[in-house]
Amino acid sequence: MSLLAIGSEDDVRFIGIWGMGGIGKTPLARVVYDKVFNEFQGGCFIANVMSESEKCGLVPLQQKLIHEILMGKSVYIRDDCDGVHMIKNRLCHKKILLVLDDVDQFDQLEKLAGDSKWFGSGSRVIITTKDRHLLGRHEVHEIYEAQGLKYIEALRLFSLKAFKERDPPKGYLDFSTSFVDYAKGLPLAISVLGSLLYNRSKKE
Ligand SMILES: Nc1ncnc2c1ncn2[C@@H]1O[C@H](COP(=O)(O)OP(=O)(O)O)[C@@H](O)[C@H]1O
Ligand SMILES: [Mg+2]
Repeated sequence: MSLLAIGSEDDVRFIGIWGMGGIGKTPLARVVYDKVFNEFQGGCFIANVMSESEKCGLVPLQQKLIHEILMGKSVYIRDDCDGVHMIKNRLCHKKILLVLDDVDQFDQLEKLAGDSKWFGSGSRVIITTKDRHLLGRHEVHEIYEAQGLKYIEALRLFSLKAFKERDPPKGYLDFSTSFVDYAKGLPLAISVLGSLLYNRSKKE
């Protein structure tokens, strides 16, 4: 949130969220987006850019971007170069909030949010990625390194998944701690392990 606030009202700024898979970049970006999106004239959250673009290329993502920011207006895009012109022409006067989630190729950044002139003043673009190098190559002003959960948060998440309770039941604290230590604060691991144990006996 504080990195989003850096810069003057007129600046267009790119902010990276960087970290390993399962650390919680997507949920973090989602929470931030929901919190601040009403401060912008339009917003778009493109989840899973890597897998979506592998499935059907970048044109549908360019279409989604324009469609959502212009609130329902549809455009025909011939190819991804056409899409680049379209985005620049339609959005350069709008103060927008855009999230590009799980970007893994430079090309995706170039075709969806090439540079700060594409968007109106005050816009913010949040990019999540596992690849820090990618952020270095693009015009990214700030980078936030996603943090794993602290012990107490990890224990709570584990407990919610394994026991559907905020704290481990009596006699299950050491048992829970061994899982939490093993997962080293990685929420995806805690979530998966905890869910797997739900409704099982200690012996199992
Ligand atoms: N702070 C958190 N508290 C509870 N669960 C979380 C938290 N952060 C992430 N998670 C959960 O952990 C999983 C990891 O998130 P994921 O989207 O796979 O991470 P990434 O986008 O970095 O690959 C998700 O299932 C999410 O619900
Ligand atoms: Mg993700």
